[in-house]
Amino acid sequence: MHPDAQNLFDLSGRVAVVTGGAGLLGFKHAEAIAAAGGIPVLVDLAAADPGARAAELAERYGVDALGSTTDITDRAQVATLLDTLLERFGTVDILINNAARNPKVEPTDGPEWSRLESFPVDLWDADLAVGLTGAFLCSQVLGTEMARRGKGVIVNIASDLAIIGPDQRLYRQEGLPEEQQPVKPVTYSVVKAGLVGLPRYLAPYWADRGVRVNAISPGGVFAGQPEEFLSRLHALIPLGRMANVDEYQGAILFLCSDASSYMTGTNLVVDGGRTTW
Ligand SMILES: NC(=O)c1ccc[n+]([C@@H]2O[C@H](COP(=O)([O-])OP(=O)(O)OC[C@H]3O[C@@H](n4cnc5c(N)ncnc54)[C@H](O)[C@@H]3O)[C@@H](O)[C@H]2O)c1
Repeated sequence: MHPDAQNLFDLSGRVAVVTGGAGLLGFKHAEAIAAAGGIPVLVDLAAADPGARAAELAERYGVDALGSTTDITDRAQVATLLDTLLERFGTVDILINNAARNPKVEPTDGPEWSRLESFPVDLWDADLAVGLTGAFLCSQVLGTEMARRGKGVIVNIASDLAIIGPDQRLYRQEGLPEEQQPVKPVTYSVVKAGLVGLPRYLAPYWADRGVRVNAISPGGVFAGQPEEFLSRLHALIPLGRMANVDEYQGAILFLCSDASSYMTGTNLVVDGGRTTW
């Protein structure tokens, strides 16, 4: 047994950047970091108020925490974030690439835009800018600093839809003509596949510099979805349900801590078994 098994998941004093950290799951990742003694840095857009959410964690867990209004699609802002971290904490240890635009299935801007045939190129660009370019820029700027220091961890938040195609039957609405049926947008699959691909590049690139890079592929989280959607989806998941919002915290702690010290360049699937079917 590992001589220090109790402390394998300990993150005391480690500075952990969570992009999209004020969102639904990002905040939960940041909470897991705080609960393990780490210093969560919640990076998000101003509208999500990352400062207030960081203050919440600092108070609840008695740790240092920082909220940073940073648009991760802008390299200069990510570089400023690094300067702030080095000034305030002297280090950056962990990066969780979690931010996303999460393109909507329901058409909100015209009847057909979520469908492939009419998917606007500006939405394609915007989704890829946050999901992929943002993850690349944060990895480039913060990961390079980790490599320089000889230690660090990067975790990309992908999805079960990085592994399987979206089952568009889940989103069907009775009575709508075929060409207006809502679908999961193409950018979701493309961004998530890229987030699994990036660690396969970065892990060997930085393996001898002490930086480990992995992805996690979570299944969907229950958040009050309509009953009809839930019953269709539950039938596709061996565990028969969506995840609760805190059910990825264990995997996050595993990937961010020394518990996963021999793991790099891979994808941890936490999907209730969905991708086995
Ligand atoms: N919720 C789920 O069911 C689920 C399932 C699988 C994977 N995921 C993935 O988990 C991650 C978090 O999802 P969520 O449900 O918490 O979504 P969310 O929309 O609640 O959070 C995403 C956050 O990213 C932030 N963001 C967007 N653009 C940004 C930018 N340019 N710079 C900085 N921050 C930006 C948003 O403001 C938001 O707070 C996403 O990558 C998502 O695809 C979610």
